[in-house]
Amino acid sequence: MEFFVKSGNPAKQRAGCVIAGVFARRKLSPAAKELDEACKGALSQAMRRGDIEGREGETVVLHGLSGLVCDRVLLVGLGRERDFSDKAYIRATEEAVRAVRKTGAVDAVSYLTDLVVRKRDRRWTVLRAAMASGALGYRFVQCKSKPDPDHSKLNRITFNVPSRSDLAEAEEALRTATALNAGMVLTRDLSNLPGNRCTPTDLANTGRELASSYRSIKTTVLDEKKMENLGMGALLSVSKGSREPATFTVMEYMQGPKKAKPVVLVGKGLTFDAGGISLKPAQAMDEMKYDMCGGAAVFGTMKAVAELGLPINLVGIVPASENLPDGMANKPGDIVTSMSGQTIEILNTDAEGRLLLCDALTYVERNYDPDCVVDMATLTGAVIVALGNHATGVFANQPALAKSLITAGDYMGDRAWELPLWDDYESALRSPFADVANVGGREAGSVTAAVFLHRFARKLRWAHLDIAGTAWTQKPKGATARPVPLLLQFLTQRLHESS
Ligand code: BES
Ligand code: MN
Ligand code: ZN
Repeated sequence: MEFFVKSGNPAKQRAGCVIAGVFARRKLSPAAKELDEACKGALSQAMRRGDIEGREGETVVLHGLSGLVCDRVLLVGLGRERDFSDKAYIRATEEAVRAVRKTGAVDAVSYLTDLVVRKRDRRWTVLRAAMASGALGYRFVQCKSKPDPDHSKLNRITFNVPSRSDLAEAEEALRTATALNAGMVLTRDLSNLPGNRCTPTDLANTGRELASSYRSIKTTVLDEKKMENLGMGALLSVSKGSREPATFTVMEYMQGPKKAKPVVLVGKGLTFDAGGISLKPAQAMDEMKYDMCGGAAVFGTMKAVAELGLPINLVGIVPASENLPDGMANKPGDIVTSMSGQTIEILNTDAEGRLLLCDALTYVERNYDPDCVVDMATLTGAVIVALGNHATGVFANQPALAKSLITAGDYMGDRAWELPLWDDYESALRSPFADVANVGGREAGSVTAAVFLHRFARKLRWAHLDIAGTAWTQKPKGATARPVPLLLQFLTQRLHESS
């Protein structure tokens, strides 16, 4: 799908479809009013006949309107004008694009981006419209011998803005959305691939491919031998139970000022998590192919940033492994030594993500002097109990960092919510035999996981995103590419804060 922006009269658009909104109680939006006047009240007539009321999500296609030069007009309900905010705007955009895709239209001009959305500017309406439209066209067909045909012919959407003076901002928003969509496709594709088609080696190869596609990205892959030399005993203890070797991918994108400290992103890359000897139940175990969504988000964010050519310093790190039961696998009670030197008693082999991440955090501390580090992981089922599928859980040892991530997520509709990192929870991880245990018992599972990681991030400005509830959906089954939007907005936001 290609996107454009323009500022023009809706009645004069030569296109397969012109999209305009109607507020509840049959109130035409400004663009719809212009269309209505040009076609001598045909839109008002459709409303009078009861074809559309303006309720959220309603759509109607009108053909053959004299006075207009487009093939059709698609009207979409916007809900009550007083309540018109993010949610109604995105809903209208999605329903409109869905409806246009069902017609024969090849191109469309949308006047929804003209609307005033409470607390949002023009960059936002265009960015979010292009994101929503891009996401609707996504299909995962890599594993089908004959992909289901996509009947939609729609391949071009132009977003209209009210005035020519909005065009520069709108163009920037489009560039961002296009780069973001490309990054999100990479993330979703990697995430949706099953464990046998996306191994730790495949993830490392993804990092290498990014380096060959973008001169701005430099990739280094550590193999198990190198990890052993570095003392990554926690990470390697997980991969011991698998025939697939662990990989540790480091991508550097240094396009910012020389002296600017980098942001480091770390993503959990468990290409399949069966739980190990603490085996998971069979129910929905296939979904544990998604246990590398954190890693996939790091790759996708690197891609989006490189596409955009953001003038920042960014490092992406993806520690990757499988977690399987095996004669060589970790056993409950085993004690391993992490790269930091801290010993860990593995009481539950299914709490493996933190074993990868702790060594990755120590690697960051030893090799970089970052401005901040954000890790993301499908770390705990407990975060789904706490927040469901709506919000990512955020933990941070710096309130400003948490706030900044939450604000970025809110802007992108990729929301996150803070949970506590208080030291009150530390006692749950006491071990009689090692420095720390890898699990803390039934209560507050997401918090104790974060508190465990914090022991390895004390010297860093650090945040942890638990994306177990948000990285994929069950109905329909598929990856969401969250938190890529949040991260890209976070990185863009910082750029404006520092300049
Ligand atoms: N990858 C899982 C977390 C998970 C579970 C994500 C379900 C999404 C859906 C993680 O490795 C894990 O198994 N965590 C355990 C931790 C427990 C043993 C303390 C969990 O959440 O049950
Ligand atoms: Mn697990
Ligand atoms: Zn896991």
